Amino acid sequence: MNSIFNADLLWMDDIKLVAGKNYILKLGTQSVPATVMNIKYKIDVNTGKEVYADMIYKNEIALCEIVTGSRLVFDTFDNNNALGSLILIDRITHATSACGVIRESVSRGTDLTWHTMDITKQFRESQMGQKARTIWFTGLSGAGKSTIANELEKRLTANGRHTMLLDGDNIRLGLNKNLGFKEADRIENIRRIAEVAKLMNDAGLIVLTSFISPFVRDRRQAREIIGGDFIEVYVSTPLEDCERRDPKGLYAAARRGELAHFTGISSPYEKPENPEITVDTSKNSMEECVDIILKKLEGLAEERKN
Ligand code: ADX
Repeated sequence: MNSIFNADLLWMDDIKLVAGKNYILKLGTQSVPATVMNIKYKIDVNTGKEVYADMIYKNEIALCEIVTGSRLVFDTFDNNNALGSLILIDRITHATSACGVIRESVSRGTDLTWHTMDITKQFRESQMGQKARTIWFTGLSGAGKSTIANELEKRLTANGRHTMLLDGDNIRLGLNKNLGFKEADRIENIRRIAEVAKLMNDAGLIVLTSFISPFVRDRRQAREIIGGDFIEVYVSTPLEDCERRDPKGLYAAARRGELAHFTGISSPYEKPENPEITVDTSKNSMEECVDIILKKLEGLAEERKN
């Protein structure tokens, strides 16, 4: 069960707040994962007025909706100062990113309960004769993610596996057609993909995802949402090679300034810290990369069985 409330946050971190980011929330002795789902408004310090904002910078104050990953005992600050005051800790730097006071509880979703169904994931897995897992490809545009994922899926299917491939461009033409490439949109893009991958894992499928997924914290959140058997595959092909290939002409457009927030050029790519598998299509052929991945997958399946 989670808790949802609106809180006034004073942002204290040099790293800005973008809706969708996940933190550790501390309230008294309680410490839970929490996501700032939505920035309702910020206060303009000059006029005192509430203004629209999609990012919050150091020393700004904003009313935000916060959803915790597990149930939190809290109250509004007006009712109980101790149970209504919180801090948010950055999950990577461990810095205190914000302090805040709870204004009101939001009841949406808290009266929902998860129904346990009789046909379980384990049942579906045994019906399909496989263990569901998510193989999460990350890397720059043009690194070879989709090509490798496509080939790997063919090999898995040929071996009798039941699979589904979720691909960046394809998902952005449908489910995520309302999202662009700003940081907040990318966070939401990855959150939705992770939820879809989890559902497909629950259906017993082996899911392959191919998204740039440039931010460490979003991939970490995807790993948490999906749980179970999650395998991060870093396609580490260097920027120079991706740019030389430029299969869709996007790097050239980004260099000309015609494409905003382009990963590797005008938007960052954060390398994975501990990917389970790394392949580089500038060093190995596509077939070799798929062989490397298949071999590692077998090894990981053995390790995780024990
Ligand atoms: S992600 O960053 O949010 O994970 P995603 O993998 O879904 O990205 O989509 C990336 C694809 O969108 C690229 O392969 C490219 O074809 C296209 N694209 C269009 N604009 C951009 C952009 N500004 N940055 C990155 N990719 C873009």
